[in-house]
Amino acid sequence: MTSHNHGKISLVGKKTLVTGASGGIGSSVCEHFARAGATILASDLNLSSPLQTLMENYPGQIHFKPFDLTTASGLENCSQEIKSLVPEILFNNAAIFDMGSVLDANLDQYDRIFALNVRAMYAIMQAAARALVASGKEGSIINLASQAGRRGEALVAHYCASKAAVISYTQSAGLALAEKGIRVNALSPGVVDTPMWDHVDSLFAKFENLKIGEKKQLVGEEVPMGRMGKPEDIAKVALFLASDLSAYITCQTINVDGGNVLS
Ligand SMILES: NC(=O)c1ccc[n+]([C@@H]2O[C@H](COP(=O)([O-])OP(=O)(O)OC[C@H]3O[C@@H](n4cnc5c(N)ncnc54)[C@H](O)[C@@H]3O)[C@@H](O)[C@H]2O)c1
Repeated sequence: MTSHNHGKISLVGKKTLVTGASGGIGSSVCEHFARAGATILASDLNLSSPLQTLMENYPGQIHFKPFDLTTASGLENCSQEIKSLVPEILFNNAAIFDMGSVLDANLDQYDRIFALNVRAMYAIMQAAARALVASGKEGSIINLASQAGRRGEALVAHYCASKAAVISYTQSAGLALAEKGIRVNALSPGVVDTPMWDHVDSLFAKFENLKIGEKKQLVGEEVPMGRMGKPEDIAKVALFLASDLSAYITCQTINVDGGNVLS
């Protein structure tokens, strides 16, 4: 799928769709993939200033289109875009987080989380797979799971369940598409310092009566490697999964978490 030179991964000639591209991990993936030569359709609700700066630094390589993947029209427009673009690489990353135990996490929260983290994740993966199969091209699909999908958490019922679903869909899709040369894997980050974790931190502050920033510090210290992840920690493994260095890996969920989850 890709060529290599002195250990450097090249994605030259590879079209990539990144959802949630304005976010912490998504924008880092755009940067790493652009540096490797990919052309990128970056999508999110809005264009963030880090992503805008990247577009200026890689002129002509990163194009932005806004889609709200929880609306019928946003999902349809994104699927149409995929059909005409036929990206060889999908970084299926957009998601939201919210908290609540089974005593208070209601069905509205379930609907909001599952609409994006599971329903849209599935629909975008399906659109990408269909476009690749119709054009006879091989590809690599990377879904964003989480350590939260490996084990339930008392205060995080719906988000954990949504990420367990990502792991399961990754396995089913990988098995269904293996013979077509389309690999499907997931990344399972631990705790990564992004805007999402600022939101997580503020929710824990409320639920556990902590100061702002306290939960973030605690979870970082608890990581065996002693720190929170950086978006680039995830982006580098995404680069590996996108390239043919990982040509014989499919259906897997790969922990990128400094040692938090052992499997
Ligand atoms: N940060 C972490 O610690 C962590 C840990 C495990 C897994 N993850 C997963 O990694 C992925 C990226 O997370 P992040 O930390 O970069 O989060 P982030 O909040 O920085 O980025 C997520 C992006 O998704 C976008 N988004 C939200 N609703 C959308 C919608 N309706 N349509 C389209 N886009 C929408 C947001 O605007 C945001 O830019 C997510 O799937 C997340 O669940 C993150």
